[in-house]
Amino acid sequence: MKITIQQGNITDISADVLIVNLFQGVERPAGATGALDKALGGRISELIALGDCSGKLGDTTLLYSHGAVAAPRILVLGLGKRDAFDLHAARTASARAIARAAKLGAATVATIVHGAGVGGLEPAQAAAALAEACLLETYRMPRQSSREEKTRRIQEVVVVEYDAARVPLLEQGLRTGTIIAESVNFARDLEALPANIATPAMIADTARRMAAEVGLQCTVLEKADMEDLGMGILLAVAKGSDQPPQFVILEHNAQRRQDLPTNVLVGKGITFDTGGYSLKVASASSMWRMKDDMTGAADVLGILRAAALLDVPLHVVGLAPLTENTINGRAQKPGDVYTGMSGKTMEVISTDAEGRMILADALAYAGRYHPDAVIDLATLTGAIGIALGPHAAGLFAGDEALGQRIQAAAERSGERVWPMPMYDDYAAAIRSDFADVKNSTAPLKRMGVSTSAKFLQHFTEDYPWAHIDIASMAWIDKARPMYPNGASAFGVRLLVQLLRDWS
Ligand code: BES
Ligand code: MN
Ligand code: ZN
Repeated sequence: MKITIQQGNITDISADVLIVNLFQGVERPAGATGALDKALGGRISELIALGDCSGKLGDTTLLYSHGAVAAPRILVLGLGKRDAFDLHAARTASARAIARAAKLGAATVATIVHGAGVGGLEPAQAAAALAEACLLETYRMPRQSSREEKTRRIQEVVVVEYDAARVPLLEQGLRTGTIIAESVNFARDLEALPANIATPAMIADTARRMAAEVGLQCTVLEKADMEDLGMGILLAVAKGSDQPPQFVILEHNAQRRQDLPTNVLVGKGITFDTGGYSLKVASASSMWRMKDDMTGAADVLGILRAAALLDVPLHVVGLAPLTENTINGRAQKPGDVYTGMSGKTMEVISTDAEGRMILADALAYAGRYHPDAVIDLATLTGAIGIALGPHAAGLFAGDEALGQRIQAAAERSGERVWPMPMYDDYAAAIRSDFADVKNSTAPLKRMGVSTSAKFLQHFTEDYPWAHIDIASMAWIDKARPMYPNGASAFGVRLLVQLLRDWS
């Protein structure tokens, strides 16, 4: 989908579908919608009076122009109540409109920027919201199928602006929104690909290629490098797989690391999680979903891509430890004890608590950068879904100020997080008789979420740190605006927002 901008009059634009908007409670539309209403002899006003054009957030009303204007179809998009309107409402509404246009089979769509007029949003931000929503809503996962795709895809979205003076601002906003959404969709592709295709080596190659394209520095540690570094806990998970583990390091503004604040982002990269010898018996029929257990890593690649293209004024480091969690004769076993890069030891209680293991060594490695903040993203526990469902990710803030920054970014991006506790009492539950710490409380089933965060905290160094559990957000079972079914790459927009707002 190409998004372009055109200065001109809404009545002159030819496209399969033309999208204008309306706030709830407005009886006589103004601006572009008003101009169109006039050209149509007051038919929009008439529909409003009849109660057939509500203006409710995301509602769309279809009209045919019968030649009164250049476009044959018109969608009047509801923006909801004016005092409840914000960037997130603009995104939600835009997504609903583009979805309706796609359903109508449109190849070309023309639209105004929602919320930049009476809506009171900053024009560049409103334009970014529009671009984001269009690209995220119409995303489809990669398929390896010979069957043709059924639905026709929208080829072009033309953004129409009457005021020539505003065009440059809108253009800049569209570019920002496009970069962010394409970075999300880049991560979604990796997330959706099956584990036989998206192996650790393939993801590392993808990272290298992407880095070269956007101007990031990329280093990939191989198994031997990890051995030299003493990453015994990460390597313990990798022992059971024929796929060699990889540790991807992406860096934005590496040359300016002395002058800029350093943010390190860490993503769990389990390319497939069978559970290991603590096999996922209870959830065997949905085990295919564990191909997305590398969403954190995919997110980190997407975030670094956006950071480079938006040129955020920070030193940003992305770390993605990548391995399968499978079994063979060399695989780790419950009861095994391993030593990590920091010299700390851990006892394996469950080989299915593998995410925290690979993150332990990645968090130790993060210390090398003397960072101002470290944030990890991980599909870490089923329990977070029990607590929050598919409506928010769990935020475990080891540092209060960093937690607040993340919550502010969540508010602005619309990617929600909810704070979870990190009391030291949870650490007591993972004390081990044989090592510094154990990786699960089994057979005790309680406290599964917070003990996972306490385990991670045990391996953090002296830097502000927060952990975000995205297990219940990574794969969408019930589509909602901007999140079609399947891979969501939840977390990319959240942390890109955080980076952009950092200073
Ligand atoms: N990748 C899973 C977490 C998960 C479960 C993500 C369901 C999405 C849906 C993780 O590695 C895992 O297996 N966690 C265990 C931890 C337990 C063994 C302490 C869990 O949540 O059951
Ligand atoms: Mn697991
Ligand atoms: Zn896992």
